[in-house]
Amino acid sequence: MLKEFLIYQNNELVFLSDSSSISLTHLVKNYQGPMFFYNRDFIRMRTRQMQTALKNVKLFYALKANAHPQVLSVFKDENVGVDVVSGGEIEHAVQCGFSYQSLVYSGVGKTKAELELAIQNEIYQINVESIPELYRIGEVAKKLGKKANVAFRVNPDISIQSHPYIATGLKDNKFGIDTNQFAEVMRVAQENAAHLSVKGISLHLGSQMLDFSSLKDSLAKLKPLFLDLRKIFPECHRFDFGGGLGIFYEKQDLEMENRLLNEYAATMFSEMNALKALVPDLELQSEPGRWLVGHAGVLLAQVQYVKVTPYKEFLILDSGMNHLIRPSLYEAYHGVHKLSANGVEKTYDVVGPICESADFLGKNRVLPEMKQDDFVVIRDCGAYAASMASDYNLQRRAFEVSN
Ligand SMILES: Cc1ncc(COP(=O)(O)O)c(C=O)c1O
Repeated sequence: MLKEFLIYQNNELVFLSDSSSISLTHLVKNYQGPMFFYNRDFIRMRTRQMQTALKNVKLFYALKANAHPQVLSVFKDENVGVDVVSGGEIEHAVQCGFSYQSLVYSGVGKTKAELELAIQNEIYQINVESIPELYRIGEVAKKLGKKANVAFRVNPDISIQSHPYIATGLKDNKFGIDTNQFAEVMRVAQENAAHLSVKGISLHLGSQMLDFSSLKDSLAKLKPLFLDLRKIFPECHRFDFGGGLGIFYEKQDLEMENRLLNEYAATMFSEMNALKALVPDLELQSEPGRWLVGHAGVLLAQVQYVKVTPYKEFLILDSGMNHLIRPSLYEAYHGVHKLSANGVEKTYDVVGPICESADFLGKNRVLPEMKQDDFVVIRDCGAYAASMASDYNLQRRAFEVSN
């Protein structure tokens, strides 16, 4: 089992997985601008590790984390479905070869046109996030003469230890249906029973979860709701416990991450086994994103200027918050490495070209001395990096390549 995946060999950075060792130096031979590199061997390794730990759990990869077709091709090969949150993501997944019957559709703001696309094509599951959405689904399905496959996303009002912007399971959040509104949900669903097939219940507590006590409490809270639903809708048999398993950004420790994966699986199975005894056809589902692809991408960028002031040394790159917004948005940490390891160590603020003081990729980073035109590698850019990029300042998007 690998512990570190980005290491120096002969002073050059190398990207490891269980099946390959890829030198990053050759990627900048004909450098044309900032570039994300996605290691598909690494994604395959993580997918298989998760499939082993979450045995008999159907995985739906959260496409919002990274929508690159080459990344999606790994999930297609490994028989993983896709979790989508917009009509655009539905169309993209289908263009990349996924069937509508392998898609789970979440999101609080589904438009009529998006629901028509989903219901017309008999999508596998729509995770309903509110009572007005349930009414709209009923109307659209009736108009199309279809039965929509739905699951109810419940907001358990349970917090996780994560950045507040990526926690989604609290009553202050816009996501999911409040448990106190569940009786009404069941009434509306019964009213619309001719146009709905109630398949189950879903949950997503938020992202970057590294402790599972909240997950355990939430599953315990949802079980009675699931059984109530099943009494009225006997076809209710899916329990979707969402995504959110976290990774380490500040250190590389894949062994520890695997131990956490096993702990996550044990928490989930210990709660679900009792339910399985009552619901023999119970199917478990998960919607992982970050854990599968987060470490699998790096961002390669070039130093434009080393700017020395009386107070600081800045490495000004050709890439910043336009390509990787997580540091600006959540003060998230991303490791920064020099592509070739030589030089005495110095401390830099690593910043981009964008006209915002929030445009930084790392502060007070100790790196081997850098000069103009040297390359840096930003670690852990496989999830929520290119997919959250913008054209701000009319800077060009980064290239995206894979092995
Ligand atoms: C509904 C839903 N499912 C799954 C995910 C994936 O989460 P993660 O990438 O943390 O696994 C998200 C992320 O925001 C989400 O909103």
